[in-house]
Amino acid sequence: MLSYRHSFHAGNFADVLKHYVLVEILEALAKKDKPFEYIDTHAGAGLHYLHSEQAQKLAEFTNGIGRLTPKDWPELDSYFTAINACNPTKQLTHYPGSPLIANHFLRRQDRGWLYELHPSDAKLLQKNLQKKHKMRVMQSDGFTGLLSLLPPTSRRGMVLIDPSYEIKSDYEKVFSVVNQAYKKFANGIYAIWYPVVDRELILRLEKKFINSGIKDIQRFELGIKEDTTEHGMTSSGMLVINPPWELHEKMSRLLPKLAKYLGSDKNGENTQGVFKCDVLVKE
Ligand SMILES: C[S@@+](CC[C@H](N)C(=O)[O-])C[C@H]1O[C@@H](n2cnc3c(N)ncnc32)[C@H](O)[C@@H]1O
Repeated sequence: MLSYRHSFHAGNFADVLKHYVLVEILEALAKKDKPFEYIDTHAGAGLHYLHSEQAQKLAEFTNGIGRLTPKDWPELDSYFTAINACNPTKQLTHYPGSPLIANHFLRRQDRGWLYELHPSDAKLLQKNLQKKHKMRVMQSDGFTGLLSLLPPTSRRGMVLIDPSYEIKSDYEKVFSVVNQAYKKFANGIYAIWYPVVDRELILRLEKKFINSGIKDIQRFELGIKEDTTEHGMTSSGMLVINPPWELHEKMSRLLPKLAKYLGSDKNGENTQGVFKCDVLVKE
């Protein structure tokens, strides 16, 4: 039974990190004319209305995208461009999920493969992507789907793996599927999102990657406070395999600034924000 719906969390501080990294990777891939493929194993609904009952319930976007302005964050320019494309009135009423963000950067020659298991979200995704012929939606398991697509025809591309981890076995599954995927497509870029709700689970996941033989893994983490034993997500991170060469440098400038700001109170003071930006496995 899938109960997680991303619309409750759309645009929060975790989405800012995840979607900024996504944009950076897509822009790096688009620097060459050769086609590439975008595979999203856990795609979600594609677009979220921020005035909906779900988004307003926790209003998480107010300490995420809702707190950032393009004027103060020029380094987020491309990310804002993708968001603005979903907000023709220039007010932040909608927040794009990974499929619509990716669609913004895919060119005529590129292709997207989107897996979403939840029947309602898969239907919404299909609707939100109308007339976007570069993208194909599959209402099926993204882990199995990924392995069936690799290696992609273009031999270039990225995979976004963004489970909700509501099923604890997802931590193990993510590692085992990426490990198999890497054997089929070793030069692909893999971006794996994780929540920090129990640090022990993340340490175990990282250890598996470190010992896997997979090379060139970087870790980017953004948190609004230090780890805690209380309930809830304090940080989230991205493990990126085969990252674009400029990504680490950009993240090392952006993450301290984002952590300081999003970890602070309404006046921008008393920050508790934290971040990690490091190389987990060398090239
Ligand atoms: C965190 S959300 C995805 C958010 C989206 N990637 C974004 O950035 O906008 C995780 C999604 O995965 C879906 N899901 C859960 N298990 C899945 C599976 N095995 N295959 C495909 N989708 C799955 C859930 O229904 C949920 O919509």
